[in-house]
Amino acid sequence: MLISVLSLKGSPGTTTLAVALAARWPAPARALVVEADPSGGDLGLRFSLSSTPGLGSLAAAARRDSDADLVWRHTQQLPGGLPVIAAPPDADQARAALAALAPDPTSGLGVLRAAANRPDTVVIADCGRVDPGSPALSIVRASDVVVLLSRAHADDLAHLPRRLPTIGRWSPNPVLLLVGEGYSTAEVARELGVPPLGRVPDDPNGAAVLCGRPNKLRWGRSGPAHSTLGRFAHRVASELATHERTPTTQPEPRPAAPVAPVSVLRSVPGVPPDAVSSNGGRVVPSPATDHRDKQGGQAS
Ligand SMILES: Nc1ncnc2c1ncn2[C@@H]1O[C@H](COP(=O)(O)OP(=O)(O)OP(=O)(O)O)[C@@H](O)[C@H]1O
Ligand SMILES: [Mg+2]
Repeated sequence: MLISVLSLKGSPGTTTLAVALAARWPAPARALVVEADPSGGDLGLRFSLSSTPGLGSLAAAARRDSDADLVWRHTQQLPGGLPVIAAPPDADQARAALAALAPDPTSGLGVLRAAANRPDTVVIADCGRVDPGSPALSIVRASDVVVLLSRAHADDLAHLPRRLPTIGRWSPNPVLLLVGEGYSTAEVARELGVPPLGRVPDDPNGAAVLCGRPNKLRWGRSGPAHSTLGRFAHRVASELATHERTPTTQPEPRPAAPVAPVSVLRSVPGVPPDAVSSNGGRVVPSPATDHRDKQGGQAS
Protein backbone atom coordinates (compact mmCIF):
# COMPACT_ATOMS: atom_id res chain seq x y z
CA MET A 1 0.00 0.00 0.00
CA LEU A 2 1.26 3.51 -0.86
CA ILE A 3 0.05 6.37 1.31
CA SER A 4 0.87 10.03 0.69
CA VAL A 5 0.73 12.48 3.57
CA LEU A 6 0.60 16.10 2.48
CA SER A 7 -0.56 19.62 3.20
CA LEU A 8 -1.67 22.46 1.00
CA LYS A 9 -0.62 25.29 3.24
CA GLY A 10 1.62 25.89 6.21
CA SER A 11 3.44 23.26 8.23
CA PRO A 12 0.68 21.37 10.02
CA GLY A 13 2.85 18.43 11.14
CA THR A 14 3.04 16.37 7.97
CA THR A 15 6.44 14.79 8.67
CA THR A 16 5.53 14.04 12.27
CA LEU A 17 2.30 12.34 11.28
CA ALA A 18 3.97 10.33 8.50
CA VAL A 19 6.48 8.98 11.03
CA ALA A 20 3.72 8.35 13.56
CA LEU A 21 1.61 6.39 11.06
CA ALA A 22 4.55 4.21 10.08
CA ALA A 23 5.62 3.68 13.69
CA ARG A 24 2.11 2.67 14.70
CA TRP A 25 1.06 0.77 11.60
CA PRO A 26 -0.69 -2.43 12.66
CA ALA A 27 1.21 -5.70 12.30
CA PRO A 28 2.01 -7.76 10.32
CA ALA A 29 2.68 -5.22 7.55
CA ARG A 30 6.15 -3.67 7.26
CA ALA A 31 5.91 0.12 7.10
CA LEU A 32 8.57 2.56 5.98
CA VAL A 33 8.67 6.32 5.62
CA VAL A 34 9.87 7.99 2.45
CA GLU A 35 10.61 11.64 2.89
CA ALA A 36 9.39 12.93 -0.45
CA ASP A 37 9.27 16.61 0.47
CA PRO A 38 10.52 18.88 -2.35
CA SER A 39 11.41 21.57 0.17
CA GLY A 40 14.09 19.30 1.60
CA GLY A 41 14.23 16.70 4.34
CA ASP A 42 14.14 17.09 8.10
CA LEU A 43 14.57 13.50 9.29
CA GLY A 44 18.29 13.30 8.60
CA LEU A 45 19.02 16.31 10.77
CA ARG A 46 16.46 15.44 13.43
CA PHE A 47 17.81 11.93 13.93
CA SER A 48 21.48 12.54 13.00
CA LEU A 49 21.29 10.13 10.08
CA SER A 50 24.05 9.66 7.53
CA SER A 51 23.65 11.56 4.29
CA THR A 52 23.43 8.24 2.46
CA PRO A 53 21.63 5.94 1.90
CA GLY A 54 18.49 7.96 1.36
CA LEU A 55 16.31 9.51 -1.29
CA GLY A 56 19.32 10.56 -3.37
CA SER A 57 20.89 7.11 -3.47
CA LEU A 58 17.50 5.54 -4.17
CA ALA A 59 16.89 7.89 -7.09
CA ALA A 60 20.30 7.06 -8.54
CA ALA A 61 19.76 3.33 -8.15
CA ALA A 62 16.24 3.52 -9.59
CA ARG A 63 17.67 4.61 -12.94
CA ARG A 64 19.01 1.10 -13.50
CA ASP A 65 16.89 -1.08 -11.20
CA SER A 66 13.14 -1.23 -10.56
CA ASP A 67 13.24 -4.18 -8.19
CA ALA A 68 10.46 -4.10 -5.57
CA ASP A 69 13.07 -4.64 -2.83
CA LEU A 70 15.21 -1.72 -3.93
CA VAL A 71 13.69 0.74 -1.46
CA TRP A 72 14.67 -1.43 1.49
CA ARG A 73 18.33 -1.15 0.49
CA HIS A 74 18.18 2.65 0.84
CA THR A 75 16.66 2.93 4.29
CA GLN A 76 18.19 3.94 7.58
CA GLN A 77 16.61 3.25 10.93
CA LEU A 78 15.17 5.67 13.44
CA PRO A 79 15.82 4.88 17.12
CA GLY A 80 12.91 2.47 17.43
CA GLY A 81 14.02 0.58 14.31
CA LEU A 82 11.59 2.30 11.96
CA PRO A 83 13.01 2.26 8.40
CA VAL A 84 13.11 5.64 6.69
CA ILE A 85 14.39 6.98 3.40
CA ALA A 86 15.46 10.49 4.29
CA ALA A 87 15.50 13.31 1.75
CA PRO A 88 18.52 15.57 1.36
CA PRO A 89 18.02 18.71 3.45
CA ASP A 90 18.80 20.81 0.40
CA ALA A 91 15.64 21.56 -1.59
CA ASP A 92 17.36 21.46 -4.99
CA GLN A 93 18.80 18.02 -4.27
CA ALA A 94 15.48 16.79 -2.91
CA ARG A 95 13.63 18.02 -5.98
CA ALA A 96 16.19 16.43 -8.31
CA ALA A 97 15.84 13.10 -6.51
CA LEU A 98 12.05 13.26 -6.70
CA ALA A 99 12.15 14.11 -10.39
CA ALA A 100 14.38 11.09 -10.98
CA LEU A 101 12.02 8.85 -9.01
CA ALA A 102 8.99 9.81 -11.09
CA PRO A 103 7.93 6.68 -12.92
CA ASP A 104 8.43 6.48 -16.63
CA PRO A 105 4.89 5.88 -17.94
CA THR A 106 6.18 3.73 -20.76
CA SER A 107 8.44 1.46 -18.75
CA GLY A 108 7.16 0.89 -15.29
CA LEU A 109 5.53 1.82 -12.05
CA GLY A 110 8.39 3.46 -10.23
CA VAL A 111 10.20 1.89 -7.33
CA LEU A 112 7.90 3.23 -4.61
CA ARG A 113 4.78 1.87 -6.27
CA ALA A 114 6.57 -1.41 -7.00
CA ALA A 115 7.53 -1.78 -3.34
CA ALA A 116 4.04 -0.79 -2.20
CA ASN A 117 2.45 -3.44 -4.39
CA ARG A 118 3.87 -6.09 -2.09
CA PRO A 119 1.01 -7.20 0.16
CA ASP A 120 3.16 -6.98 3.30
CA THR A 121 4.57 -3.51 2.60
CA VAL A 122 3.24 -0.06 3.45
CA VAL A 123 5.14 2.90 2.02
CA ILE A 124 4.24 6.18 3.70
CA ALA A 125 5.43 9.14 1.66
CA ASP A 126 5.75 12.52 3.33
CA CYS A 127 5.10 14.72 0.31
CA GLY A 128 5.20 17.99 2.24
CA ARG A 129 3.28 20.97 0.90
CA VAL A 130 1.91 19.97 -2.49
CA ASP A 131 0.86 22.15 -5.39
CA PRO A 132 0.18 21.15 -8.99
CA GLY A 133 3.84 21.74 -9.90
CA SER A 134 5.29 19.62 -7.12
CA PRO A 135 7.81 16.95 -8.13
CA ALA A 136 6.16 14.74 -5.51
CA LEU A 137 2.93 14.76 -7.50
CA SER A 138 3.67 11.51 -9.32
CA ILE A 139 3.92 9.80 -5.92
CA VAL A 140 0.65 11.38 -4.83
CA ARG A 141 -1.07 10.25 -8.00
CA ALA A 142 0.22 6.71 -7.62
CA SER A 143 -0.96 6.46 -4.01
CA ASP A 144 -3.72 4.23 -2.74
CA VAL A 145 -4.70 6.84 -0.16
CA VAL A 146 -3.87 10.53 0.20
CA VAL A 147 -3.90 11.93 3.74
CA LEU A 148 -4.40 15.69 3.67
CA LEU A 149 -3.60 17.70 6.78
CA SER A 150 -5.17 21.10 7.26
CA ARG A 151 -5.21 23.42 10.19
CA ALA A 152 -8.77 24.17 11.21
CA HIS A 153 -8.65 27.94 11.21
CA ALA A 154 -10.60 29.89 8.62
CA ASP A 155 -7.59 31.03 6.61
CA ASP A 156 -6.38 27.45 6.10
CA LEU A 157 -9.83 25.99 5.48
CA ALA A 158 -10.55 28.74 2.98
CA HIS A 159 -8.21 27.05 0.49
CA LEU A 160 -9.91 23.69 0.63
CA PRO A 161 -13.03 24.18 -1.52
CA ARG A 162 -10.88 25.41 -4.39
CA ARG A 163 -8.17 22.76 -3.98
CA LEU A 164 -10.12 19.66 -2.94
CA PRO A 165 -11.50 18.92 -6.41
CA THR A 166 -7.92 18.95 -7.70
CA ILE A 167 -6.87 16.50 -5.02
CA GLY A 168 -9.88 14.41 -5.98
CA ARG A 169 -8.41 14.16 -9.45
CA TRP A 170 -5.08 13.08 -8.01
CA SER A 171 -6.60 10.43 -5.78
CA PRO A 172 -10.00 8.79 -5.44
CA ASN A 173 -9.36 8.32 -1.73
CA PRO A 174 -8.42 11.57 -0.03
CA VAL A 175 -8.57 11.52 3.76
CA LEU A 176 -8.86 14.86 5.54
CA LEU A 177 -7.37 15.31 9.00
CA LEU A 178 -7.77 18.59 10.85
CA VAL A 179 -4.97 20.00 12.97
CA GLY A 180 -5.27 22.32 15.92
CA GLU A 181 -7.96 24.62 17.15
CA GLY A 182 -10.59 26.17 14.96
CA TYR A 183 -13.71 24.86 13.37
CA SER A 184 -15.05 21.55 14.60
CA THR A 185 -14.97 18.41 12.51
CA ALA A 186 -18.77 18.54 12.33
CA GLU A 187 -18.73 22.08 10.96
CA VAL A 188 -16.05 21.25 8.41
CA ALA A 189 -17.94 18.13 7.35
CA ARG A 190 -21.14 20.08 6.93
CA GLU A 191 -19.64 22.97 5.02
CA LEU A 192 -17.16 21.11 2.82
CA GLY A 193 -19.12 17.91 2.32
CA VAL A 194 -15.96 15.98 3.25
CA PRO A 195 -16.11 14.48 6.73
CA PRO A 196 -12.68 14.74 8.33
CA LEU A 197 -11.41 11.41 9.57
CA GLY A 198 -10.38 13.12 12.77
CA ARG A 199 -8.34 15.84 14.39
CA VAL A 200 -4.66 15.37 15.07
CA PRO A 201 -4.21 15.92 18.80
CA ASP A 202 -1.95 18.67 20.02
CA ASP A 203 0.71 16.61 21.78
CA PRO A 204 4.06 18.42 22.06
CA ASN A 205 5.74 15.57 23.96
CA GLY A 206 4.54 12.87 21.60
CA ALA A 207 5.51 14.97 18.59
CA ALA A 208 8.93 15.73 20.05
CA VAL A 209 9.83 12.03 20.24
CA LEU A 210 8.74 11.57 16.63
CA CYS A 211 10.97 14.52 15.70
CA GLY A 212 14.05 13.13 17.45
CA ARG A 213 13.71 15.20 20.60
CA PRO A 214 13.27 12.63 23.38
CA ASN A 215 11.78 14.06 26.54
CA LYS A 216 9.99 12.25 29.31
CA LEU A 217 8.77 9.99 26.51
CA ARG A 218 11.23 7.86 24.61
CA TRP A 219 10.95 5.87 21.45
CA GLY A 220 10.04 2.23 21.97
CA ARG A 221 7.41 1.07 24.37
CA SER A 222 6.82 4.43 26.03
CA GLY A 223 7.23 6.66 22.96
CA PRO A 224 4.96 6.57 19.94
CA ALA A 225 2.97 3.66 21.33
CA HIS A 226 1.83 5.45 24.44
CA SER A 227 1.63 9.09 23.48
CA THR A 228 -1.70 10.68 22.64
CA LEU A 229 -0.41 11.33 19.14
CA GLY A 230 0.80 7.73 18.81
CA ARG A 231 -2.57 6.34 19.83
CA PHE A 232 -4.30 8.64 17.36
CA ALA A 233 -1.90 7.55 14.61
CA HIS A 234 -2.64 3.92 15.41
CA ARG A 235 -6.38 4.51 15.02
CA VAL A 236 -5.88 6.27 11.69
CA ALA A 237 -3.41 3.63 10.47
CA SER A 238 -5.82 0.86 11.43
CA GLU A 239 -8.57 2.57 9.45
CA LEU A 240 -6.31 3.07 6.43
CA ALA A 241 -5.09 -0.52 6.62
CA THR A 242 -8.61 -1.71 5.85
CA HIS A 243 -8.57 0.19 2.59
CA GLU A 244 -8.56 -1.90 -0.52
CA ARG A 245 -5.46 -1.39 -2.63
CA THR A 246 -5.75 0.47 -5.89
CA PRO A 247 -5.35 -2.13 -8.64
CA THR A 248 -2.53 -0.17 -10.22
CA THR A 249 -0.74 -1.37 -13.29
CA GLN A 250 0.46 2.05 -14.43
CA PRO A 251 0.64 5.04 -12.11
CA GLU A 252 -0.43 7.70 -14.59
CA PRO A 253 -3.04 8.17 -15.80
CA ARG A 254 -4.94 6.67 -12.90
CA PRO A 255 -6.85 3.53 -13.94
CA ALA A 256 -10.51 4.01 -14.57
CA ALA A 257 -11.41 0.91 -12.54
CA PRO A 258 -13.62 1.81 -9.58
CA VAL A 259 -11.89 1.85 -6.21
CA ALA A 260 -13.63 1.07 -2.96
CA PRO A 261 -13.63 4.27 -0.91
CA VAL A 262 -12.46 4.39 2.67
CA SER A 263 -15.69 3.79 4.53
CA VAL A 264 -15.98 7.05 6.40
CA LEU A 265 -15.14 9.28 3.48
CA ARG A 266 -17.01 10.83 0.67
CA SER A 267 -15.35 11.48 -2.64
CA VAL A 268 -14.13 15.00 -3.07
CA PRO A 269 -15.74 15.99 -6.37
CA GLY A 270 -19.01 17.64 -5.46
CA VAL A 271 -17.60 19.74 -2.70
CA PRO A 272 -19.70 22.90 -2.73
CA PRO A 273 -17.41 25.37 -4.54
CA ASP A 274 -18.40 28.36 -2.46
CA ALA A 275 -18.72 26.85 1.00
CA VAL A 276 -15.79 28.93 2.16
CA SER A 277 -14.94 32.25 0.57
CA SER A 278 -11.69 32.49 -1.32
CA ASN A 279 -10.31 35.11 1.03
CA GLY A 280 -11.27 33.20 4.15
CA GLY A 281 -13.58 35.96 5.29
CA ARG A 282 -16.85 34.11 5.05
CA VAL A 283 -16.60 30.70 6.53
CA VAL A 284 -20.11 29.42 6.60
CA PRO A 285 -20.52 28.33 10.27
CA SER A 286 -22.70 30.82 12.06
CA PRO A 287 -21.22 33.41 14.41
CA ALA A 288 -22.64 31.44 17.32
CA THR A 289 -20.91 28.19 16.40
CA ASP A 290 -17.81 30.09 15.36
CA HIS A 291 -17.65 31.69 18.78
CA ARG A 292 -18.20 28.35 20.52
CA ASP A 293 -15.50 26.63 18.54
CA LYS A 294 -12.94 29.29 19.21
CA GLN A 295 -13.62 28.58 22.86
CA GLY A 296 -12.18 25.11 22.25
CA GLY A 297 -15.17 23.02 21.11
CA GLN A 298 -14.17 20.06 18.96
CA ALA A 299 -15.93 17.15 17.41
CA SER A 300 -13.14 14.68 17.84
N1 LIG B 1 0.40 16.84 16.84
C1 LIG B 1 1.35 17.69 17.23
N2 LIG B 1 1.31 18.27 18.44
C2 LIG B 1 2.25 19.15 18.84
N3 LIG B 1 3.31 19.52 18.10
C3 LIG B 1 3.42 18.96 16.86
C4 LIG B 1 2.45 18.03 16.38
N4 LIG B 1 2.84 17.65 15.13
C5 LIG B 1 3.97 18.29 14.88
N5 LIG B 1 4.33 19.09 15.90
C6 LIG B 1 5.52 19.94 15.98
O1 LIG B 1 5.43 20.90 14.92
C7 LIG B 1 6.71 21.10 14.35
C8 LIG B 1 6.62 20.89 12.84
O2 LIG B 1 6.27 19.53 12.62
P1 LIG B 1 6.57 18.84 11.22
O3 LIG B 1 7.99 18.99 10.86
O4 LIG B 1 5.99 17.49 11.28
O5 LIG B 1 5.68 19.76 10.26
P2 LIG B 1 5.64 19.75 8.68
O6 LIG B 1 4.24 20.04 8.27
O7 LIG B 1 6.27 18.52 8.16
O8 LIG B 1 6.59 21.02 8.38
P3 LIG B 1 7.45 21.38 7.07
O9 LIG B 1 6.57 22.25 6.22
O10 LIG B 1 8.62 22.15 7.62
O11 LIG B 1 7.85 20.10 6.40
C9 LIG B 1 7.68 20.15 15.06
O12 LIG B 1 8.40 20.87 16.02
C10 LIG B 1 6.78 19.15 15.72
O13 LIG B 1 7.34 18.66 16.93
MG1 LIG C 1 7.82 18.17 6.86
